[in-house]
Amino acid sequence: MTDTPDETEADMTGVEPRRTPKPAVDRIGGRKLRPSTLMMGHGFDPALSEGSLKPPIFLTSTFVFPDAASGKRHFEGVTGKRPGGAEGLVYSRFNGPNQEILEDRLGIWEEAEDALAFSSGMSAIATLFLSMVRPGDTIVHSGPLYAATETLIARVLGKFGIHWLDFPAGATREEIDAVLQKASSGRVALIYLESPANPTNALVDVEAVAASRDAIFAGAAEKPPIAIDNTFLGPLWHQPLKHGADLVVYSLTKYAGGHSDLVAGGVLGSKAHIDVIRSMRNTIGTICDPNTAWMLLRSLETLELRMSRAGENAAKVCAYLRDHDKVEHVGYLGFLAEGPDGDDAEEDAPATHANARRQADIYRRHCSGGGSTFSLYLKGGEAEAFRFLDALRIAKLAVSLGGTETLASHPAGMTHLSVPDARRQALGITDNLVRISIGVEDADDLIADMEQALAAV
Ligand SMILES: Cc1ncc(COP(=O)(O)O)c(C=O)c1O
Repeated sequence: MTDTPDETEADMTGVEPRRTPKPAVDRIGGRKLRPSTLMMGHGFDPALSEGSLKPPIFLTSTFVFPDAASGKRHFEGVTGKRPGGAEGLVYSRFNGPNQEILEDRLGIWEEAEDALAFSSGMSAIATLFLSMVRPGDTIVHSGPLYAATETLIARVLGKFGIHWLDFPAGATREEIDAVLQKASSGRVALIYLESPANPTNALVDVEAVAASRDAIFAGAAEKPPIAIDNTFLGPLWHQPLKHGADLVVYSLTKYAGGHSDLVAGGVLGSKAHIDVIRSMRNTIGTICDPNTAWMLLRSLETLELRMSRAGENAAKVCAYLRDHDKVEHVGYLGFLAEGPDGDDAEEDAPATHANARRQADIYRRHCSGGGSTFSLYLKGGEAEAFRFLDALRIAKLAVSLGGTETLASHPAGMTHLSVPDARRQALGITDNLVRISIGVEDADDLIADMEQALAAV
């Protein structure tokens, strides 16, 4: 946003520079301040908004230039006629004060060079794809992906001559190598990952993907960037930029928004990649609105509190559920911390056991927590799952996740109803599966709710 005007430059050029906020306090002495501290004020200077402690919501479609020369200077920066890019704000399809503060704060959690805010998770993903692909390119992705992302790649981009190849989310280095090798006969626009995968919870080995990409494209003129949907575990429990990803994608609708009252998206990563995506966003206008950005700023102040509490609650609820005699299995990532021997390993076939071992290894290298969204497989089928869902009294029957309140849904009958039977079985989306996203309520109250709902099954 704004700053004390640079008198020297103004004197020299006759152009009044656009204003930016006073320098952020991100260190005290030798101490680097933590994201949870920076969420309260980073990127906003109250002195520029009548002393307002919180940023006002800037409802404007356009921004006034101080003089004609400043306007010209701005557009010289936009068009690249002057190096250094454009400073300041010009039009609200490109950016606004609330969105800029949000972007500054979003980047902090993962020490990203730059960040962009979008009107939804899907508009973030679509803008990312559109900014990278050309006809004839291939997108290599992990599978499964969130259903709308799969539709976007296969059905929408497919119509414009974009191809795709995938590897399973839990793939080994050799399996990833084989798919990238095959794809590298043409131009690979992007390697796109989702970890944990929706709805299987399978983790992707981001380090192995990065090593494979670096090896296979070692002599190539350009290396495809690695982007990853980090909605389920980020930014608290999984930080893929540290494991070799170039870009991280979010549905901010989930944990970042955190109150089930907004829809938004984000992309973070290196400045060079973000600039390309920003240019596409400027063109098609997929930025989030100022009101949503303001709501997200409020949400980010409590992000760590909410995610920590939800994560602790989920660990307690899952520990209770896995010993219950009406429960067949609990697919909760936190159990991976115990290793493959912790959960049902004795009865597993060798291939399943090897896979469980690999998942535990990925978890230990990449994740610092198991999240608060998990799969509950009840003994029985649809009837048992429905009786459980209908008996819940605190948890609400709704899709989505990452809110303050606990939600439960039936993927086979709801979100994945249109998925063909064979694929649904392969993904483990059986009739006895209930997906649960744990909120920040009291853990013992949630356990009491689960207990009485299981009694009704
Ligand atoms: C993993 C994942 N990615 C992306 C999205 C899409 O986000 P949005 O609904 O904000 O467009 C979702 C939505 O559920 C999701 O679960």
